[in-house]
Amino acid sequence: MNTNEKIKKRYNRIASYFDLLQKPMGTSGFDKWRKKLIEQVNGKTLEVGVGTGKNLRFYNRDIDLTAIDFSKNMLEKAKAKYRKELPMANFMEMDVENLDFEDNTFDTVVTSCVFCSVPNPIKGLQEIKRVLKPNGQLIMLEHVRSNGKILGALMDWFNFIPLNIIGDNINRKTGENLRKAGFTDIEEVKLWKDVVKFFNVKNDFLKP
Ligand SMILES: C[S@@+](CC[C@H](N)C(=O)[O-])C[C@H]1O[C@@H](n2cnc3c(N)ncnc32)[C@H](O)[C@@H]1O
Repeated sequence: MNTNEKIKKRYNRIASYFDLLQKPMGTSGFDKWRKKLIEQVNGKTLEVGVGTGKNLRFYNRDIDLTAIDFSKNMLEKAKAKYRKELPMANFMEMDVENLDFEDNTFDTVVTSCVFCSVPNPIKGLQEIKRVLKPNGQLIMLEHVRSNGKILGALMDWFNFIPLNIIGDNINRKTGENLRKAGFTDIEEVKLWKDVVKFFNVKNDFLKP
């Protein structure tokens, strides 16, 4: 089984109790950041790694939204909860590393807590760049590896625990990965220490 299949299997396995596991995050202010993230959305929108749909309640009802996830069970949860509230939304089982969309399709791409688990993050970000329109925006709410000497080292040492249980890495260098994927216009906003951040990324007008 390749890494993508392994991580997908982990999310399929935890889908039924994912919301319960994440409950403390909702009460710790994370929901306020989700709301702020979704307020920035405009135009034709792709949400990558929608999971059980935690951001969906913050979209306008008439949003032109495509929501993808490579875990069938996570996606089913989101679909079951929000099919009626978001009648224009399209839920699709898909891997961000291999997007089934034409180049230059979306005005906005949204991610939250996704690029900690995408097995090949640079490949996934390159695909997002491809499907974003020129000058389109990628907006992300992600946790990343701290640059702090001690905290960063601890995140490296203990990464194997969430990775093996959930499929989540706590030591991803998402800012660096964005640059490696070819994005250049990147704003990072620290939300909690240098660990939880917004990334506000504009797609360059000319694609490489
Ligand atoms: C930690 S959950 C976050 C879910 C949701 N975005 C949230 O904020 O609650 C990560 C999600 O990303 C999905 N995911 C991971 N790698 C993916 C990939 N390569 N393609 C599509 N979805 C992926 C997982 O299946 C899971 O649903």
